[in-house]
Amino acid sequence: MVRLKTIDWVDGGVKIVDQTLLPLELVYERIDTVEQMYLAIKILKVRGAPAIGIAGAFGCYIAIRDYPETGSCNDLLELLVKNGDYLDSSRPTAVNLAWAVNRMKHKARDLAAAGKVADVKKGLLDEAVAILEEDRAMGRAIGEHGAKLLEGVDAILTHCNAGGLATAEYGTALAPVYVAAEQGKLFTVYSDETRPLLQGSRITAFELQKAGIPVVCICDNMAATVMAQGKVGAVIVGADRITANGDTANKIGTYGVALLARAHNIPFYVAAPSSTFDLTLATGKEIPIEERDETEITCGFGKRTAPVGVPVFNPAFDVTPAALITAFITENGIARPPFSESIRDLVG
Ligand code: MRU
Repeated sequence: MVRLKTIDWVDGGVKIVDQTLLPLELVYERIDTVEQMYLAIKILKVRGAPAIGIAGAFGCYIAIRDYPETGSCNDLLELLVKNGDYLDSSRPTAVNLAWAVNRMKHKARDLAAAGKVADVKKGLLDEAVAILEEDRAMGRAIGEHGAKLLEGVDAILTHCNAGGLATAEYGTALAPVYVAAEQGKLFTVYSDETRPLLQGSRITAFELQKAGIPVVCICDNMAATVMAQGKVGAVIVGADRITANGDTANKIGTYGVALLARAHNIPFYVAAPSSTFDLTLATGKEIPIEERDETEITCGFGKRTAPVGVPVFNPAFDVTPAALITAFITENGIARPPFSESIRDLVG
């Protein structure tokens, strides 16, 4: 089965799939500077919460890679913190980015205590690679738990792209689909197009088709009809940040899908690794929501579809209240309501 590597460490540099070019072209790009990495995250060449966490970690290493070994550990730490904060400022909603950058800072502080610049540098590369490998393992584990949970279901609906292209390999929402396929069961995946940037039709449909998994594209406003016609047995989405009570930020439109699933009595699952849970926030009201450029709505992919000068509201994410979520699928197992307790027990 083809599973594309959306981000990897190859020959001393980061190799990413430029996701802005999908599905027309599959182009790999090499990232060698912090500025390139910041821009790649900002303009969604690399996107999806776990993938931008991995990107942030490698960006931190790139920032200190050429620091002279004759320099001081304190100055190296300062350089790392400055560049880590810069990378972290590229996108505010997915907590995986801040989580990975913080992990790199902590690692650097621990290693700097011994006073050897060369050891700090090597340790930071190892840490970034570990973040990538752990994400791959978490995706696989999510897939195994999710595949069991979905026994008896033949078709699912997903929103945006929480697949391999958003993570180190398996994805989160699509991980159960990939694991089930390895076990000989093929789900049909209804993929919401996901306005305005079309991650569902450009990216989810692309990666599922490449993997040989049946996928059906629908416009976002068709999800209700698909549910009413009994075409899907469950909804699975990914997440950008989950608060202590289970409120979940994910791609704009997810909240509406959750409401539709509730109206049709269809289970609504959120699949996410522990790095996406932010237990420092009590509820979803505290999650910072990214707002993006108005041209994504008025002039998407270069074609004007709204009058010049019309006011636009373009939040990139929404928050689905915990009450609409049936369960969370994590690498450590399934969290069911009451979420404040089950989330703390599984990923606290
Ligand atoms: O703006 P994007 O494309 O980065 O948004 C991505 C999503 O909302 C995903 O569903 C989420 O990051 C989970 S990816 C496993």
